[in-house]
This record gives sequence, C-alpha cells and structure tokens, in this order.
Amino acid sequence: EKEPVTVLVTGAAGQIGYAIVPMIARGAMLGPDQPVILHMLDIEPAAEALNGVRMELIDAAFPLLKGVVATTNAEEACKGVNIAVMVGGFPRKEGMERKDVMSKNVSIYKAQASALEKHAAEDCKVLVVANPANTNALILKKFAPSIPEKNITCLTRLDHNRALGQISERINVHVGDVKNVIIWGNHSSTQYPDVNHATVATSSGEKNVRELVADDNWLNSEFITMVQQRGAAIIKARKLSSALSAASSACDHIRDWVLGTPKGKWVSMGVYSDGSYGIQPGLIYSFPVTCEKGEWSIVQGLKIDEFSRAKLDATEQELIEEKALAYSCLN
Ligand code: NAI
Repeated sequence: EKEPVTVLVTGAAGQIGYAIVPMIARGAMLGPDQPVILHMLDIEPAAEALNGVRMELIDAAFPLLKGVVATTNAEEACKGVNIAVMVGGFPRKEGMERKDVMSKNVSIYKAQASALEKHAAEDCKVLVVANPANTNALILKKFAPSIPEKNITCLTRLDHNRALGQISERINVHVGDVKNVIIWGNHSSTQYPDVNHATVATSSGEKNVRELVADDNWLNSEFITMVQQRGAAIIKARKLSSALSAASSACDHIRDWVLGTPKGKWVSMGVYSDGSYGIQPGLIYSFPVTCEKGEWSIVQGLKIDEFSRAKLDATEQELIEEKALAYSCLN
C-alpha cells in the first residue's frame, strides 16, 4: 500500500470545506488507491463546528482516510503537509471597502505562509481557493520564500469547468467531449473565458467549438458574461456561494497537477507568470497549462487575436492593481 499523503484544508468548517473533505477522503483528489491524512484548520469561533466535521469523517468510515487532525493552530495544521488547499479567508461583508477586505486577507495569508514555510513538507503543493485568490496566492508566495514559486497556484478551474459546461449545454454535447477552453487572468469578473482553441470530440473527429456553435455573437458576448457572472448567479439562486462545484474543481486542479493532464488536453490554472503571452512576470495569472510528473507548464504558441489581446491585458491590469493594493496593506 502507498504511503499516505497529508492534505491540509483551511477554512474546513465552511461550505467548501464541508464539500471537499469527503471528496478527498474518497480519492477524488489523489486517486482511488492513494491513502490520505486530512489536516483541517479553522479559526476559534468555528472550532466546535470543525470538530463536528471531524466526527462525521470518522462516522463515514472512509477506507482511504488514515488520519484526521482538526485544529485552530496553523502551525499544527501545516505540519508535514504535502498538499495545501487554502479555502479559509475573510469574506467581503456589506459596507466594507475593497481595501479593508484585502487588508484582512493579506494578514491571514502572510501568517499562513509563514506556518507553511516552517512546517510543510519540502515538496508541498499549494492551491489557493479563497478570494481574492490570485492575490492571496501572491502574498503566500512572498512570505513562504522556500516553497518553490511553481508550487504555488490559485483556482480558476471552476471557471474553466463552467465554460466547458456552458458550451456543452449550448450545443447539446457531453461535457466530457469538450476540451481546451481557457480562462485567462484573474479569478474575478475580468477573467477572459476563451474558446478560440477549444474543440469537441464528435463521431466525425475533432471539431472547433466556434464552428459547431456557429454563433460568434453569442460566443463573444453572452457566453463570456455568463461564465464571468456565474458565481453571482449561483449566489442569487442558492443564497450561498458555489461550494460543491468549487470543491470538485479544486480536486480536479490538484488531481491533474499531481497525476498529469491527458495527452492533447490542457486545463486552466492560476500560476506564477514567467512573461508568457506578454503577461507581467511576477503576477499569479490564469494560463492554459499541461501537467506532467507533478509539474505544470504553460501551453505556448497559441495565436491571440486582437479581441483576445485586449481582454488578456484588461484582466492583467486588474491584477497589477490588486497587487499594488495588497502591497500597500503590508505597510
Ligand atoms: P465560508 O465562509 O463558508 O467558509 C470559510 C471558512 O474559513 C469559515 O469556516 C471561516 O471560519 C474560515 N476562516 C476564516 N479565516 C480563517 C483563517 N484565518 N484560517 C482558517 N480558516 C479561516 O466560505 P466558502 O463558501 O467555503 O468559501 C471560501 C472561500 O472560497 C471564499 O473566500 C470564497 O470567496 C472563495 N471561493 C473561491 C472560488 C474560486 O473559484 N476560486 C469559488 C468559490 C468560493
């Protein structure tokens, strides 16, 4: 039997936490033959609820689950962690300024970066889910200098999966037959869902999404807005933000990163920019990536038309501003 992998989930008493821990314990993140140890972190006011989640994990008797730690101590939570899924954060509340929310999250991510830096396993892979996800990841990177920058990522896979879902609904094909959409940029409403390179597997071979949809108007406007605003639509319907789809997409993100993407298929991940596609180096920006042997690489050489260029730049601009705002909170 394989050695267990230790997975940290912060904010584990929250909505996404409640949805993701059973997925991890069932092998949806690391595979059906990979034992796991779960470390769950939350804050003091949620300690009792967190303990309730721990009790349910015991009650569910998951064969792959080799241990559970539920704690409000970040140092204890980060000990020996191989995979860190950072879901905990400070949500925007009514009447709060952007700067106040940023400031709260900057201090959370600064502290948790230090705990990971000190206590996580050497090869620890980090996925930041909590918003503002790209910028929280950037702060984490800054304060965990010994974690290689390629090991620090943020979640845009939910947006990627949403784009696949919308295409599949529109042309009535199975979502598993659609691939290679791209989410560029920030996990926010400036993100650019791009279908220019996306394809659908059909009985007569691979077809271009643009060709099959045959409605550029819809693809260039309604489709983009729908994906950008999907989070808000879920809140409106559920009175709560997306949790099961966020949890499932976070599992997809880690699974593909660790186990690799299938040949010919790419996914979207928020990763440290190396200047690819003219994006400012040093931002955490969502790119199309393929993964092999536990490492992602940005898909190179895709043609970017003028329409796309403007959208890649606009979401980059927002990230530059977010970064400046976050850094101003450090002083
Ligand atoms: P939630 O409010 O239900 O849970 C958040 C949990 O984090 C709470 O239990 C809270 O006590 C905990 N927490 C707060 N500060 C903490 C700290 N310093 N250390 C550890 N835990 C802490 O929120 P939900 O719905 O689970 O969402 C979590 C985050 O994920 C939010 O920031 C949300 O905006 C973000 N999100 C991101 C998505 C993405 O695609 N990147 C998609 C959906 C949500």
